[in-house]
Amino acid sequence: MCGIVGYLGNGIAQESLIDGLKRLEYRGYDSAGVAFHEGNKFSMARETGRVKNLAEVVQKKSSSSSLGIAHTRWATHGAVTVSNTHPHRSHDGKFVLVHNGVIENFSPLKKFLKGKGIQFTSETDSEVLCNLIAFHYAESPKSEERFVDAVRLALPQCRGAYGIAVLCLDKSDVLIGARRGSPLVVGLGDDANFIASDASAFVGRAKEAVFLNDGELAILRGRDFRITTLEGQEAQAVSHPVDQISEEVELGDFDSYMEKEIFEQPTALKNTLRGRFGDDGTTSKLGGLEGHEDELRDLDRIIFVACGTARHACMVGEYLIERLARVPVEVEHASEFRYRNSPNAGKSLVIAVSQSGETLDTLEAVREAKTKGLLTLGITNVVGSSLARETDGGVYQRVGPEIGVASTKAFSSQACLCAMLGLALGRMRDLSPMDGQAVVEALNGLPDLVAHVLQQAEQIRELAVKYSKAEHLLFLGRQSLYPVALEGALKLKEISYAHAEGYPAAELKHGPIALINPDCPCIFMVEGTELSAKTIANMQEVKARKGQVLAIAPEEIEIPDEAADDIFRLPVAHEVVRPILANLPLQLFAYHFARLRGLDVDKPRNLAKSVTVE
Ligand code: AGP
Ligand code: GLU
Repeated sequence: MCGIVGYLGNGIAQESLIDGLKRLEYRGYDSAGVAFHEGNKFSMARETGRVKNLAEVVQKKSSSSSLGIAHTRWATHGAVTVSNTHPHRSHDGKFVLVHNGVIENFSPLKKFLKGKGIQFTSETDSEVLCNLIAFHYAESPKSEERFVDAVRLALPQCRGAYGIAVLCLDKSDVLIGARRGSPLVVGLGDDANFIASDASAFVGRAKEAVFLNDGELAILRGRDFRITTLEGQEAQAVSHPVDQISEEVELGDFDSYMEKEIFEQPTALKNTLRGRFGDDGTTSKLGGLEGHEDELRDLDRIIFVACGTARHACMVGEYLIERLARVPVEVEHASEFRYRNSPNAGKSLVIAVSQSGETLDTLEAVREAKTKGLLTLGITNVVGSSLARETDGGVYQRVGPEIGVASTKAFSSQACLCAMLGLALGRMRDLSPMDGQAVVEALNGLPDLVAHVLQQAEQIRELAVKYSKAEHLLFLGRQSLYPVALEGALKLKEISYAHAEGYPAAELKHGPIALINPDCPCIFMVEGTELSAKTIANMQEVKARKGQVLAIAPEEIEIPDEAADDIFRLPVAHEVVRPILANLPLQLFAYHFARLRGLDVDKPRNLAKSVTVE
């Protein structure tokens, strides 16, 4: 993953780079580093841990350089140590480089360079690329374009993914960036230009952003810039106003972004829903689908591709869309779809769902789908993200930046959009106006129901206290509450490091029931349908084996005293919004469970918000 930022301007680079890194920390926070061009040498600082550790060191050293690059790392190759921290310097001291991605063939390249007598100081793949550029530079004849040429010669030798920013000691006014697979954007400001992994790194400092496409190079020279292909042809530079791309995010009175984002959900969902229903009140109107009506009416199947929480939202979508629109739906792990030999039967629509719009596995799945000639739609929260730009159409979530690594409000809005999509498709096919109207009313009422559930946060905190000693937990639900069980388990394990698994409730007896003992609580999501009796029977199977049961159940469902130790009640609601409501107590449960353990819920260990490596 990693966050990259580079600065070339009239002012002092230091503050912009550190500030940029802080905003990119969601991309990784194993270690961070910076390098400044000081005329005759590079000065560097690299620290393990958060950007704030680096900031303290950089402030003491204080560089007045106006050219620098910086990086916040999510380690893929080599442990979290200072020597593996970026920037990497070439063996001859001529180049410094920051890299986001994985150079898959770094081993043979390293062997080749070692054969030329080049010594390495880190275990990373990135240092290999830095030295490969230095190698080509040393071999090239002296010319104005020698730096650019060296980069152009090195990159085609690399397999895998990269977004890089690189400096050359001989060029005190040049900053080069390049991408393949990993995102990179150029920021244009009055006093300085930037290269970064995403535009949030230079919000407030640059006015325009130019997104690079795969296989492109950005050459910033003095106050000029140009975009070329790797082969050297000029490429089109389309700029977007930065203020429409990212927003500042303040924590306010909340103690973490996760908590803030959980409580923002009523407003976030209002934004997701706003202006998206047809005038007759029986269907939804999603602008990003316009122009594709004929293809959508004629669909044979939908394939969702996504990762993690976004995939769980798609699974909710699977149940809802099949119910509302009667279109067969499959949900694939994006990373699996990409390499699968799945038969490309009939008229399939691929819908990629990604909060960040930058998850590499998801983007590659979209690229594979496009190669196969399939129509692709994106559901993403980030305007101008790679997913938004690469799909044939799509819908924005409009929930504002999600900073906490644990996705909360994004899940709710993705599930909500899936329901809206199901409604639109249903009404294009055979869903009746009356049923359509009921869904519209349910969705419009969702923000208030969400607010109502969140008002009972204290009850969930008390339940988290009661169960907080558990190291193993099971989450169980049927139908559209099965993905909610998966999501509850994922949320808990990613921020509390307790072991949790999600299963369809009826699967329990096919294996996991062997785990049941008083120390392995089971959290059951109970439906508001006739199926609830079956789930209550599964709860009783757990109680019969001395397990503990926490039930999350709608008010109207009666639960016998002996079937559950604790019950959290949800309001009566239409089936399309029930999964979103049932997930809220699980978000709060995971949040409190982790906070009771004294953990940083916004930046859990080993994770990053946006996963831009395979
Ligand atoms: C969610 O809590 C996780 N951190 C993770 O599973 C995430 O949902 C996944 O990496 C996908 O991210 P995306 O939505 O930005 O593509
Ligand atoms: N492969 C590089 C490293 O391990 C960059 C990692 C990344 O972008 O996630 O340092």
